[in-house]
Formats: sequence, structure tokens, C-alpha cells
Amino acid sequence: MKRNIVVGQSGGPTAVINASIAGVYAEAKRLGYKKVYGMIHGIEGFLQDKLVDLDRYLSDPLDIELLKRTPSAFLGSCRYKMPKIEEHPEVYQKVIDIMEEHEIDTLFYAGGNDSMDTVKMLSDYAKQTGRTQTFMGIPKTIDNDLPITDHCPGYGSAAKYIASSIKEIIRDNESFGAVKPTVVVVEIMGRHAGWLTAAAALAKGIDCTGCDAIYLPERVFDVDAFVEKVKELAKTRHSIVIAVSEGIMTADGKFVCEAGDAVLPVDAFGHKQLGGTASNLCRIIAKETGLKTRPIEFSTLQRAGSHLASLTDVDEAFCAGGVAVRAAADGRTAMMPVLVRANDEPYINWIDLHDIHDIANVEKKVPDEFITEDGCGITDAYLRYARPLIMGELNPMFVDGLPRHIVMKELMSN
Ligand code: F6P
Repeated sequence: MKRNIVVGQSGGPTAVINASIAGVYAEAKRLGYKKVYGMIHGIEGFLQDKLVDLDRYLSDPLDIELLKRTPSAFLGSCRYKMPKIEEHPEVYQKVIDIMEEHEIDTLFYAGGNDSMDTVKMLSDYAKQTGRTQTFMGIPKTIDNDLPITDHCPGYGSAAKYIASSIKEIIRDNESFGAVKPTVVVVEIMGRHAGWLTAAAALAKGIDCTGCDAIYLPERVFDVDAFVEKVKELAKTRHSIVIAVSEGIMTADGKFVCEAGDAVLPVDAFGHKQLGGTASNLCRIIAKETGLKTRPIEFSTLQRAGSHLASLTDVDEAFCAGGVAVRAAADGRTAMMPVLVRANDEPYINWIDLHDIHDIANVEKKVPDEFITEDGCGITDAYLRYARPLIMGELNPMFVDGLPRHIVMKELMSN
């Protein structure tokens, strides 16, 4: 007989991570699970026994629809690094004990690379100690850097937000017909992978000239060549808009945002908190060229912009949650649903399952075929890959002129 399950969210939120929670809940109820618990603030909260019965929030189908339209992590997120099993087995045992106490058969965890490592280690511990509990990952990251899967839920919506906003920025910057152009540098998240920054290329179309250059972390960043490029563009253009990844590095292995004496905070996984790349580059351009500059950091907005979510992305995130539940019900463990693409146009795909051991801790970079020879442009092959992922819209439910979100009382700061 089916008992209970628990689902958690971890890492940087996205516009559609809640759609995966909706998918887990809906499918679990359909399959006859008794309770679907949510962990408050991921595994960190779970270890403190912070659980919520999701019937309290999601039993009305309208709430599921609202959840699909709510950005960020409805259950709360964390960046908690599990210790090595051999050093602290008691942490893993505690997870098992809490699962037993609440009669939980399967733990689902939606996240990126670091979160899939948590799923891997929990399932390894259960196997080593002969436990029956099962563990499933659910892919989620705007960074789009999980391997095996064609792309990650969360990416399409962030890409749609970025390309739409870049169009608006270009529109604005082109409105001034000044003799000298204003140089806008837009900084985009994605850490060490340039997938999100590449999405800036989607802005180009019959109504938009597109970015003048796009710099990904897959290529070494040369500050002098960058300044030369701006000088060259300024000879003919009255508007210059350049997209850069927050993770671009110079040949000495330093992030551009680390220039000078900037000290970047580091999270539990050892990731430096990146930010300030656009400002640093604008300072350099202003000094070297005398041109007017404007740095724009999309920052949180690019991963929280659910009013511009891609319907394709929402649907895939929802289905990934459902597929994970079905797989667990069939007795699978240590797996993650992966998106498999059969065709770009018309876009045809399906969801498969893959061993979490091949996925955890592996970072998928943008392949060479998506980057132009000169290292500062994006190829048509990328556009063919990315275009289907931004298709469709899911309109927010507007109340008092603003999108309405579903919020857990426990998480509202007062
Ligand atoms: O991992 C997703 C991500 O949004 C990265 O693109 C970004 O570098 C990072 O999270 C930022 O993390 P935080 O919100 O913890 O500063």
C-alpha cells in the first residue's frame, strides 16, 4: 500500500520550480499516496523536522494553477552541503529516521548540480545500509548545466525573460540618435556555463538588431580585445548593447567581477557569489573610450520573472515532477527525469529517466558549435536549440492589477 512522500526544493529558484512541485503533488494524489509532505527550506529544514502537509495548501485545483504561476521556491530553498557519508553517517541516518517517523517512502528533491549530489549520497547511504527508502532528483536550474538532459526546467523561462528584456533595452538605447553611442553592458547569471547568456542572441529578429557582442565563460575574456571591439563598433553604431556572463574570466583565472580588490562571498559549496561584471566593464569602457555607459545586472529578476514564463517550460517542469513520482511508485531510486529531444521544429520531446550518478556534480558547458569563431557571438545552431524552449505563455492570474502568487504563511517574513 502506498504511504507518504516528501518533496523539497534546493539551490537558486526559477520561475517554474513550483510547477514541478505541482506535478509531484498532482501525480502522487492520482496514484493514491496518502500524504505529500513539503520540506521547508530543503534538506536543511528536513533535518530539523520542518515539514508541511501540502493538502493544507494544494487540495483545491485552483491552488495548483496558482502554484504553476508563482515564481521562486514555494517551499523555501537552501544551499546545504551534505557531509561525506563516512565522516558523518548520523546525518544520513537522521534523514532515514525522519522518513520512517512520518512513514515516508520516497524523498524527491528538485534542484541543480549540488542538489543532485544530495540525492546521490542519500540513495548511496540507503543502499549501503539496506534501507528501503527511495530518492529521486527532479531537474531544475536556470543555468541549464545539468548533463544528460537536453535542457533543464527553468532555463526556457529565464531565457525568454532575458531575450525579451534585451529587446526592450535595445529599443531604449536606439532611441537616442546621438553622435556618440551609449554602451550598455548587460550581465547575465549562469555561473561557469554560458547557456543563459547565449539566450541574449534570441532577441535578434525583424524588429530588433540584436546584441553587438555576447561573451560566455566558455571562452577566456580578453579585456584589451573587448575595448578594441567597443571602439570599432562605436565608429558606425549609435547604440551598442553587449551581453556578458557573470562568470567570464581573464587568462589568469580571475573572474572579471573580481577585478581590483573585490572579495566575493563564498557559499557552502565553495561557489563564489558573482556580480559586478557589467559595472567593472563599464568603468573600463568609460575610461578607455570616454563613451557614456550603462551597466545592467538582471540578477534575481531573470530567475523570478514568472510573468514571462515559457509555457513549454512550465509544462515540462510539471511533467518532470509527475514522471519522478511514477518512477518511484514503480520502485525506481537514484534517478532523475531527463528531457530527450527528437526534433527541433516541430519540437518533439519526451521524458526519460537516468541514473543520478552520471548527473551529480557534472557541469555541462555550452558546446563549441553554439559559439562563433571570434568567441563573441552565438550561432544559428544555438537558436534552433533554444527557440522551442521559450515558446508559449502562461498568463498570471492578475488581482488588483498584479500577478497573484500562492505563499506559504510559514515563509512570509513579517
Ligand atoms: O544556480 C543558479 C544561480 O541563479 C546562478 O546562476 C547564480 O550564479 C547563483 O544561482 C546565485 O546564487 P545566490 O542567489 O545564492 O547568490
